[in-house]
Amino acid sequence: MTSRAELLSRGRELLESAGSQEPEACAQWLLASALGMGRLEPLAEPGAGVSPAAERTFMRLARKKASGLPLSYVLGWHDFMGLRLKVGPGVLVPRPETEELTELCARLLKGQRGAGPADILDFCAGSGCVAAGLAALLPLARVTAVEKSARALRYAETNAAAHGGGRIRALLGDNFRGLGPFDAIAANPPYIPAGVIPGLDQEVLKEPRVALDGGGDGLKVVRMIAADAPAALRPGGFLAMEVCDGQAPAALELLSGPAWAERAAYKDFNGKDRFVYGRTNG
Ligand SMILES: C[S@@+](CC[C@H](N)C(=O)[O-])C[C@H]1O[C@@H](n2cnc3c(N)ncnc32)[C@H](O)[C@@H]1O
Repeated sequence: MTSRAELLSRGRELLESAGSQEPEACAQWLLASALGMGRLEPLAEPGAGVSPAAERTFMRLARKKASGLPLSYVLGWHDFMGLRLKVGPGVLVPRPETEELTELCARLLKGQRGAGPADILDFCAGSGCVAAGLAALLPLARVTAVEKSARALRYAETNAAAHGGGRIRALLGDNFRGLGPFDAIAANPPYIPAGVIPGLDQEVLKEPRVALDGGGDGLKVVRMIAADAPAALRPGGFLAMEVCDGQAPAALELLSGPAWAERAAYKDFNGKDRFVYGRTNG
């Protein structure tokens, strides 16, 4: 039988020669997945033999990863705020910044309204990660997750059923018509300027274009959200939205009309202004 250590080094070499990033860590994740263990568990006994079936599974996963797929697509899941979410081709892999957006939104809501019941919209929901995170952080909140792509919505529905405790509804849609009123809207829209997209990392290009492409200046969907959110919010309700590095000043400008009483930018863990906040009058 092939040992775990031998298989790990075979996988790492395959990934290295394919130019995958972090080949060692990826090989560890894939071996753990093939063995049904946590990432570091197989390393505790590197000499242990791997069954032929698990070896075949590992090599199949390693070849998929070597073909340039994001690791989370190969595994079929992604950990977001400690929640294991289903992801795969057709939906964006949640990013760490979006965990911050989710926490910011929950913190602001608690600060303004306490921990009581609240109606929240996760607009541009993708996998429904923000909705699931908010439902976990705010046990009395009811969350509506709206997503334009039918393919992505299927992931949101699955994740809502697994993590929403019956408090998340996932809807197909691309605007705010007929929705609300909400106490808060969280949004992570596509915000990458279209011209930048061809130069993105190959793995990112495996993710859906509709999740990335924010039009010419990256602000097409951001602009629509800023314009239409006030009508979907209760008086005094707020919008918290993730934007690209460098876009916060333009996004804040969009929240400067008479509908908005207050606005601010918040930094991400890299010290960059990545989240804009606007609170409506009332
Ligand atoms: C940047 S991704 C964010 C996905 C998820 N919220 C996350 O943080 O991982 C943007 C998502 O918005 C969806 N989308 C794009 N335009 C939209 C629109 N007008 N209305 C609703 N969803 C839209 C895309 O399909 C994609 O799933």
